[in-house]
Amino acid sequence: MRLNLTCRLVGAALLALATGHALAQDAKVADELAKYREALADGNPADLLEVRGEGLWQEKRGPKNASLEQCDFGLGPGKLEGAYAQLPRYFKDTGRVMDVESRLVHCMMTLQGFTFEQATKNWYSKPGTESDIEALVTFIGAKSNGVKINVPATHPEEAKMAKMGEYIFYRRSGPQDFSCAICHGQDGKRIRLQELGNLTTQAGAGEAMKTWPSYRVSQGTVWTMQRRLIDCMRQARWPEPKYLSDSVIALETFLQKTASGTVMATPGIKR
Ligand code: HEC
Repeated sequence: MRLNLTCRLVGAALLALATGHALAQDAKVADELAKYREALADGNPADLLEVRGEGLWQEKRGPKNASLEQCDFGLGPGKLEGAYAQLPRYFKDTGRVMDVESRLVHCMMTLQGFTFEQATKNWYSKPGTESDIEALVTFIGAKSNGVKINVPATHPEEAKMAKMGEYIFYRRSGPQDFSCAICHGQDGKRIRLQELGNLTTQAGAGEAMKTWPSYRVSQGTVWTMQRRLIDCMRQARWPEPKYLSDSVIALETFLQKTASGTVMATPGIKR
């Protein structure tokens, strides 16, 4: 039923694209997309993933037969409320600035005894293969709902990462000489059906960052911020970084710092 509604609304949005004057069309598409988000808001398919994530959080697994309940995301072991909103941050025990995913993998290795390869094998889902990381990040992200993003990046290592992220954001490179800023540095830009948002302002970055992890209707699954950014690097025709690379965490630090003050509302719903 809900899927039918989704199809009809997407159909309507596509139809609006195919007909009419460009400006009227723009308004119409934005309108249809708003309706479509509204229709899904009370039944985000990601809610199911959140429940699965909670189960995985509590389940004793891995060679050490332990749960993740003692994992420390920066606010103390097992303290998840508001933790996502303050990531990435510097962790003394690893001497690194870590985002939610690198910290989660760290806990799967240290608490549960998984190898890095085992922990990251299905870091994103493919048709027929579920991803524990997607489910866990959806669960952990939702624990920050209603909390303001707060990444001041005051620790010298965090400040360094934020600077590095800013540098990567504006640096033009690759065969097309693209930068993130070319697609995400102005107000009112759109590609296909998706509004791009201006990620260089607090309002624009906030609007985007508060919704991640997000359910992507076109992909039928939740995407984590690592996946979002790695795919954007691909869209920029840059070499794809490895999962959990410092370059991705640096961009996240820069974007979360810019978005700071915005209240989290995740999982979002995207095209
Ligand atoms: C060629 C244009 C293009 C480039 C270059 C690009 N992106 Fe994107 N980005 C997109 C599109 C398009 C989307 C929306 C999702 C979609 O429709 O695929 C998006 C979505 C995003 C989002 C989520 C926004 C939201 O509202 O939820 C973030 C964050 C993001 N990009 C960051 C980046 C960063 C950081 C870079 C540089 C590494 C980058 N992008 C480079 C096109 C681009």
